Amino acid sequence: MANLFFIPQYIISGENAMKMSTEYMKSFGEKALIVTDDVMVKLGNVKKLTDALDEISVSYVIYSGINSEPTHTMIDEGVEIYKKEGCDFLIGIGGGSPLDSMKAIGAVVTNGGSITEYMGKKIEHKLPPTCAIPTTAGTGSEATKVSIITNTNTGVKMLLNDPKLMANLAVVDPTFTVTVPPGVTAATGVDALTHAIEAYTSLKAFSMSDIYALSAVKRIFDNIYEVYTNGSNVEARREMAIAALEAGIAFSNASVTIVHGMSRPIGALFHVPHGLSNAMLLDVCLDYLKPGAVARLNQLAKTIGVYRPGMTPDEGADAFVVATKALLRTLNIKTPEEFGIDKEEFFNQIPKMAEDALISGSPLNTRRTPNKDDIMNLYKKLWDK
Ligand SMILES: NC(=O)c1ccc[n+]([C@@H]2O[C@H](COP(=O)([O-])OP(=O)(O)OC[C@H]3O[C@@H](n4cnc5c(N)ncnc54)[C@H](O)[C@@H]3O)[C@@H](O)[C@H]2O)c1
Ligand SMILES: [Fe+2]
Repeated sequence: MANLFFIPQYIISGENAMKMSTEYMKSFGEKALIVTDDVMVKLGNVKKLTDALDEISVSYVIYSGINSEPTHTMIDEGVEIYKKEGCDFLIGIGGGSPLDSMKAIGAVVTNGGSITEYMGKKIEHKLPPTCAIPTTAGTGSEATKVSIITNTNTGVKMLLNDPKLMANLAVVDPTFTVTVPPGVTAATGVDALTHAIEAYTSLKAFSMSDIYALSAVKRIFDNIYEVYTNGSNVEARREMAIAALEAGIAFSNASVTIVHGMSRPIGALFHVPHGLSNAMLLDVCLDYLKPGAVARLNQLAKTIGVYRPGMTPDEGADAFVVATKALLRTLNIKTPEEFGIDKEEFFNQIPKMAEDALISGSPLNTRRTPNKDDIMNLYKKLWDK
């Protein structure tokens, strides 16, 4: 079977990546729309970018109206500014929220209509040139053909998935991530871990995606606790930034599976940050997955060094699941209850969440095919912890 492997046109990584990237940005156009959030402005990261653009005489306008978990109205606003200001390319700087928004704005600029009409549709016309500068080590959005935008009219976190959403240029400078607070560091790191595990155990996994997925899982197991407890360790931050990039490449090519499918509805309805809702689900979903993915989970145990000679594949798979659960415990991931979700309201929403999860298509890539009842049961299990 043949497989298409798809990555950004250019990836520039490492300290000072932004400096090296200006040459490419200059070739993208004359006026950039910078899509970002207020935190990036306050931290001075946007200033670093605009200083670099000033040096190469590229104009820009800043749209900093993106909040966590971007909505369709934020995209409308960005499109309006892009057009009104006569921009001709886009730069997203921030976590996954600004990067996804940047891609969505680009799609509407050249394809018209409203982003709410894009779910499940092919994007016809290519976007203006796009540059993605991540400041969290999590989503991998800088190297994925995915954008996730909430339609607040329907309460659905829309998964937009099209090769045209891949950024032309990804600029991965780990020094941006040093300021990420511990809770966000843990949640975004688990998002990347989930991408890598899901890509590796996806029914759509293949040789090229496996290389990136395995490398990402190893880097994350080796470094996530360190960045969580010692955020100023630049070496560990670098490893996590590369891991998030690798995990993004892996899942963009092999797809995510049940965790992400179930995570998006929790995010849309209860405003749980994406990484955290993945982290809440990862352990129960691994238990569910195990019977269908013993060989793959056994390989993951070997990759992170918890497989012991003489173990059967089943014992190896268990060892990986146990190690992942132990890792999650060290990161103090909140339960839905600790996050402040009302149990009754959550249970009332379970049928809708299970339906939305299945409609997204992601759960069907799981090596053990879930039906609606399986998914409803897994949502309930989140309250047994
Ligand atoms: N496109 C994809 O492939 C993909 C994959 C997974 C998730 N997502 C989406 O990405 C979004 C989540 O992205 P995220 O987890 O990066 O969170 P985010 O972009 O929402 O950022 C989380 C918080 O961290 C802050 N922050 C970001 N960088 C910082 C820094 N360097 N220092 C201090 N604070 C910083 C932000 O301002 C924000 O308050 C969700 O909407 C999710 O659905 C997209
Ligand atoms: Fe994710």
